[in-house]
Amino acid sequence: MLPTQSGGPGAFANFDLSRVPSPCYVVDVQKVRSNLEVLRNLGNQSGAKVLLALKAFSMWALAEVVCEYLDGCCASGLWEARLALQKGFLRKGDSQVLSTYSPAFRSEEIEEICSLSDHLIFNHPLANGIEVARRAGVSIGLRVNPQISLGLDPKYDPCAENSRLGYPISKISEPELSRFDGLHIHTLCEQNFSPLLETWKEIEKFIGNALLQFKWINLGGGHHCTRADYDRDGLMDLVDEIAQKYDCQVYLEPGEAVALDAGILVGTVLDVMDAGKKHALLDVSATCHAPDVIEAPYRPALLGDSKRGRYEYILGGSSCLTADSFGTYHLEKTLKKAERLAFLDQAHYTMVKTNTFNGVCLPSIALWDSQTDQLSMVREFQYHEFVNRLS
Ligand SMILES: Cc1ncc(COP(=O)(O)O)c(C=O)c1O
Repeated sequence: MLPTQSGGPGAFANFDLSRVPSPCYVVDVQKVRSNLEVLRNLGNQSGAKVLLALKAFSMWALAEVVCEYLDGCCASGLWEARLALQKGFLRKGDSQVLSTYSPAFRSEEIEEICSLSDHLIFNHPLANGIEVARRAGVSIGLRVNPQISLGLDPKYDPCAENSRLGYPISKISEPELSRFDGLHIHTLCEQNFSPLLETWKEIEKFIGNALLQFKWINLGGGHHCTRADYDRDGLMDLVDEIAQKYDCQVYLEPGEAVALDAGILVGTVLDVMDAGKKHALLDVSATCHAPDVIEAPYRPALLGDSKRGRYEYILGGSSCLTADSFGTYHLEKTLKKAERLAFLDQAHYTMVKTNTFNGVCLPSIALWDSQTDQLSMVREFQYHEFVNRLS
């Protein structure tokens, strides 16, 4: 079980949960802005260009806000690349950058991906699409696997044994590297600075001077740099050192860090049942609305959860999956039917991963401004969203 990374409710401690329909994601634009501010400062002070990893957080209602602060986006393929441009996450023609990486590209999509992307990153030196990208004049990069496993869990560790993500650094030759404009690594997940430093030392050990040929070096995501305890000075020093030593542009592509603690998932207790242990049966689902709760797994922090409460409940999701549970919580008071509750830190890797398994409805999406208290509903989903994905 991984720990929750939530730093607490922040402004959501004062949010009245009955103001939104249930279930609903509520995103605080001020918290997104304050995360973006940290990232922009980090970029300005170190010289790094900071890109939003859309796979984590693609809330296009905030595309203009993201665009105000960051240097572009990174996409996982054609659809995210289209989304970035169509929804205004970046202004093409500006100095902003769209960087696209996928473990493998589809031949029929590669030309359009090239037309949208500034950087295209390939998973191995002979990957499908390299020649097309070169002819199209896109700056091409190679993702390498530094083969130093420092992840908290093998499921989220691209350096885990036999990983398919990135070309093993021990296999790469200088002539292979010389065909690329840039180098890409992505090895971290919700981590602080020291594993990045260790990883970088390993890369220098393996390919050292060959790094001098790159125009850019992309250090991927997984840097939890908006978390209170993150060593931002360490990261800025490393970025500056790499840029000076190898005369290149350094990129960072955080996802989670942009939306950390910026959203909650509001749900309602539909029923309470004693089955030996007390279950609260909710209209939210871990499987459908917060799949990482089960995939990771982790137990999300609950608004108002005291840990020392006398009343123990298993908070159960609304699908038929036995494992569709948010976990066991100890509350100060008993839960009643129709009562609202909210899970914390639910803006990233949630809206981008929802599904309608069991015909469970998709949560609405609301934007809240914790400074002005203004609330607006940006999306409400209906039955046709479920039907139209079936045939
Ligand atoms: C290639 C790449 N870049 C960036 C990210 C964003 O990582 P995070 O959201 O942990 O910062 C990911 C996440 O899986 C990734 O695979």
